[in-house]
Amino acid sequence: MTRQILVTHALPYANGPLHLGHMVGYVQTDIWVRFQRMCGHEVRFVAGEDAHGTPIMLAAEKAGVSPESFIAEIKVGHENDFREFSVAHDCYHSTHSPENQRYAELIWSRLKARDVIAARTIQQLYDPVRDMFLPDRYIKGECPNCGSADQYGDNCEVCGKAYSPTDLKNPRSVVSGATPVMRDSEHYFFELAKFQGFLETWLSQGGESEVAQPSVVAKLKEWFAAGLKDWDVSRDAPYFGFAIPGTTGKFFYVWLDAPIGYMASFARLCEEKGLDFGHWWNAGSTTELHHFIGKDIVNFHGLFWPAMLQGSDHRTPTKLHVNGYLTVNGAKMSKSRGTFIKARSYLKHLESDYLRYYFAAKLGSGVDDLDLDLADFKARIDSDIVGKYVNMASRVAGFINSRFGGLLADQLHDDALFRDFADEADHLRDLYEHGDYAAAVREIMLMADDANAEIQRLAPWTMAKDPSRERELHRVCTSFVNAFRQITIYLKPVLPKLAEAAEDFLGVLPLQWGDAAEPLLSHAINAYKPLALRVEQKAIDAMLAEEAPPAAAAEAEKPKAAKPAKAAPAAVANENKGDGKSDARSDGYLSIDDFAKVELRIARIETADHVEGADKLLRLTLDLGDLGKRQVFAGIKSAYAPENLVGRLTVCVANLAPRKMKFGMSEGMVLAASAEGGAPFLLSPDAGAQPGMRIK
Ligand code: 2FM
Ligand code: ZN
Repeated sequence: MTRQILVTHALPYANGPLHLGHMVGYVQTDIWVRFQRMCGHEVRFVAGEDAHGTPIMLAAEKAGVSPESFIAEIKVGHENDFREFSVAHDCYHSTHSPENQRYAELIWSRLKARDVIAARTIQQLYDPVRDMFLPDRYIKGECPNCGSADQYGDNCEVCGKAYSPTDLKNPRSVVSGATPVMRDSEHYFFELAKFQGFLETWLSQGGESEVAQPSVVAKLKEWFAAGLKDWDVSRDAPYFGFAIPGTTGKFFYVWLDAPIGYMASFARLCEEKGLDFGHWWNAGSTTELHHFIGKDIVNFHGLFWPAMLQGSDHRTPTKLHVNGYLTVNGAKMSKSRGTFIKARSYLKHLESDYLRYYFAAKLGSGVDDLDLDLADFKARIDSDIVGKYVNMASRVAGFINSRFGGLLADQLHDDALFRDFADEADHLRDLYEHGDYAAAVREIMLMADDANAEIQRLAPWTMAKDPSRERELHRVCTSFVNAFRQITIYLKPVLPKLAEAAEDFLGVLPLQWGDAAEPLLSHAINAYKPLALRVEQKAIDAMLAEEAPPAAAAEAEKPKAAKPAKAAPAAVANENKGDGKSDARSDGYLSIDDFAKVELRIARIETADHVEGADKLLRLTLDLGDLGKRQVFAGIKSAYAPENLVGRLTVCVANLAPRKMKFGMSEGMVLAASAEGGAPFLLSPDAGAQPGMRIK
């Protein structure tokens, strides 16, 4: 029976590039979609940008552009990454779209009519300078438990204690640096407890129609035990999102309209393809709805979202497929260790299919974290893809082409091997269906081992020396081209690019799952070209160099010959003689090479504080974008009150050697103009400049 399956993956926030952690879930989803399509089912695969919320609003502001153009640019980058990783949506849309607004408003009106939305006044911290309520992550201060400075409003990264932002000592707004004040605001709440009965039934479906992996269902049930709480679904202006109809200055919280984005993207697809939206989304729909998500967003998809759907007369999800987090070389991805690898950095240096394969080989049906061990990655690709899978074809294809005009024999040498491989189809189908890609890949590689061992035993290269064994040689090689074809079919959901190249070599139409049951005989294949190459260590190194933390990256980027004495300021560098390019000049001018040694960058002043015991200095924390944060001491106290500096952009010398001062390390210098003995005037760039930009 042909199933109609709608598949989604978590929508990435439109506030930064995709990294390999994101790709785990997206690749997992795409593999499942490709597998289902190969089995002949009708699959619709949609996703889009999660474009709303305070972080995106502030990021756009920081970038000096409108939120709309900010999210549009991020979307282009995401789409490029998806395309190159072969994550092929039928529609990739955005939550900031007319379709999403329509469905958010529709669901909202139905939930209100159903009397599951309540209004209540709450107290929240407010930034009186920026005129906005502050989400917990936008308040920092000293931990009420251990006293550590610079801790977020929800929990301490030093002692791990969770608390409320009002507990912080000396709280300040991350947005403006101001001291937040308490203010009242009316908020809207979704009364989740009213859906407890429905959710319990939905979650308790068993067997094949289980709604999620058992550990996920168990986790969701724990929330019942704790009691379902009302969910705050509104936010006050300023906010980048959809205004709540009939209110002033109230917006839907980003997480309310985010999953509705699945509908919006599908609605856009319906317009493009003439599909019937209601057939897929109305209550009682006979189609399937599968959401692939990370384990951090299980509550949104396993509680709020099904309740919202049910409460608005829509169908509910068929299944949640939950994945764990990615670690790199055994540890959490980290910018300072250079293991926070962007999808783009990987794509610049390595094959997308290889990462898909590695992820698949490690993705079981559970929600365990997955480790990208780069040495293991290389070893596995070299051994499995190059040494086992592709090798099979390369060992026999030459004979078919050179001895038999590229034509396969009309009979296999080893029918039993073919049947064995064909018989694996059902078991492998089951493994893919349940997301146990790791087991599928393991079994497929055992098949490749068997085939290679048989090639070794039969030694076609020996047969080729004996003219009386010509027919046998032809059938043997035909057998292994067929084994290669069967394995290509089974790996095709994982390795789309490689499978396409294999199909070209085999001279066949796109392979389907059922094709593994019938051999390819008396058929012309094409000349064999190497299908896959080993992973070069230098490609991995180059990828890692892209993510090296700032200091190392800056060093690595500099051409060797032009390397100045480490981080030497221009005045010192001028005294260097004999490195050819940077000779000091005697005419009073600075050579362009010397000037280039001074790394001037745009910085945003993130914090500014008085320094106890210093008359002239302020302590600044500068945000240098990708280069990270720097502490500098600036002699500008006479002219600037710290609170007026927070948030402004200025110019900083980024490669000045760090200096230990009486009050702490100074890791750069901000530039200011002044008349002899007069007050300093900080420099400011024009609108559009962003932290970290190089000034040349
Ligand atoms: O956690 C996240 O990255 C969210 N942007 C996922 C949203 S999934 C869906 F609900 F939109
Ligand atoms: Zn603490």
